[in-house]
Amino acid sequence: MATSRGRLYLWMYLAAALASFLAGLMVGWFIKPLKETTTSPPYHQSTRWKLVSEMKAENIKSFLRSFTKLPHLAGTERNLLLAKKIQTQWKKFGLDSAKLVHYDVLLSYPNETNANYISIMDEHGIEIFNTSYLEPPPDGYENVTNIVPPYNAFSAQGMPEGDLIYVNYARTEDFFKLEREMNINCSGKIVIARYGKIFRGNKVKNAMLAGAIGIILYSDPADYFAPAVQPYPKGWNLPGTAVQRGNVLNLNGAGDPLTPGYPAKDRYVILGGHRDSWVFGAIDPTSGAAVLQEIVQSFGKLMSGGWRPRRTIIFASWDAEEFGLLGSTEWAEVNMTQAFVIFLVSRETYMYLRISTD
Ligand SMILES: *[C@@H]1O[C@H](CO)[C@@H](O)[C@H](O)[C@H]1NC(C)=O
Ligand SMILES: *[C@@H]1O[C@H](CO)[C@@H](O)[C@H](O)[C@H]1NC(C)=O
Ligand SMILES: *[C@@H]1O[C@H](CO)[C@@H](O)[C@H](O)[C@H]1NC(C)=O
Ligand SMILES: *[C@@H]1O[C@H](CO)[C@@H](O)[C@H](O)[C@H]1NC(C)=O
Ligand SMILES: *[C@@H]1O[C@H](CO)[C@@H](O)[C@H](O)[C@H]1NC(C)=O
Repeated sequence: MATSRGRLYLWMYLAAALASFLAGLMVGWFIKPLKETTTSPPYHQSTRWKLVSEMKAENIKSFLRSFTKLPHLAGTERNLLLAKKIQTQWKKFGLDSAKLVHYDVLLSYPNETNANYISIMDEHGIEIFNTSYLEPPPDGYENVTNIVPPYNAFSAQGMPEGDLIYVNYARTEDFFKLEREMNINCSGKIVIARYGKIFRGNKVKNAMLAGAIGIILYSDPADYFAPAVQPYPKGWNLPGTAVQRGNVLNLNGAGDPLTPGYPAKDRYVILGGHRDSWVFGAIDPTSGAAVLQEIVQSFGKLMSGGWRPRRTIIFASWDAEEFGLLGSTEWAEVNMTQAFVIFLVSRETYMYLRISTD
């Protein structure tokens, strides 16, 4: 086994900037169909204005803080508690109903008593360097339990040993360059690739196709370091000891979900984002979840004043997005019998439109 454990940084967007972007996006998407179907623009203009003026940045900030106090990984007790908390709040906001729907899906967790690590071995097979099992918690989070050790969900188990080859971003063109221009054969080797440019699951797939027996992924400061910004908690750069988590599923045949454009035959407007996070999830997904919470609250306030939407609006707080969009996809599969579902994807927030086919 071999490794290179560089300093790791994550380019983190300012939560506030992303939150306001998402709010604008969601409101924009949502309001558009209303406007197109309306017969009395002034009424809808004033509803739109009321809704937008209901939404307060301070509320989003306090939802973000409350939702990110503890880790809430998909399928865990804590994420269920968070779901119940959101359900209670949505009811309190005045929605007609707020249901929790249960699905049994395959998730993937590390074995914490036998955690993953990467070693450098000398010529006698002695491990002369090991990576740590755990990521040190940030200041103020020392007593928080249930922080899942760094791992990539659905990666294969094993103890591969081999020479190391650097493969840049592990894109198809990177392997072409290695094989065709540099005459380097990755077969039987462990490859090391930096995060970025393509989905990590495709990096793993490309490495397998090239014959590699293992892959080490890392966040390269060249891609993930914002200049003149301190690491968290002083600033928002990823600390040197922090590790990106994710899934390495390759959902072959799932097709391109980014189908743009949709007709106005929709019966439901479905607005949601995921709730689960690998750990605290302040950026991904809670910057979106906190905005959604404030949107729901604002809609509730309008409804308490007697306003009703022309179409049914379904708000969704999805689970297990991090493991491959599982919660939202299960829901869509169950509800797809009479409907055609279009997925509109912004960075972390998914909006589903249900379109009647009858
Ligand atoms: C976790 O690792 C320990 C130690 O190797 C092993 O005894 C146990 O069976 C593993 N648990 C699972 C769920 O694989
Ligand atoms: C790495 O971990 C292995 C297994 O726990 C242990 O045998 C080895 O001594 C460790 N090497 C170092 C350098 O800590
Ligand atoms: C963690 O627990 C220890 C022991 O109870 C306590 O002294 C410390 O202040 C706690 N740290 C935080 C950040 O709550
Ligand atoms: C790479 O090495 C493997 C195993 O030695 C061999 O089967 C394969 O043909 C090689 N590929 C190329 C392109 O030379
Ligand atoms: C979607 O499916 C769930 C069951 O998973 C069901 O409870 C719900 O009523 C369905 N929603 C719609 C809008 O059909």
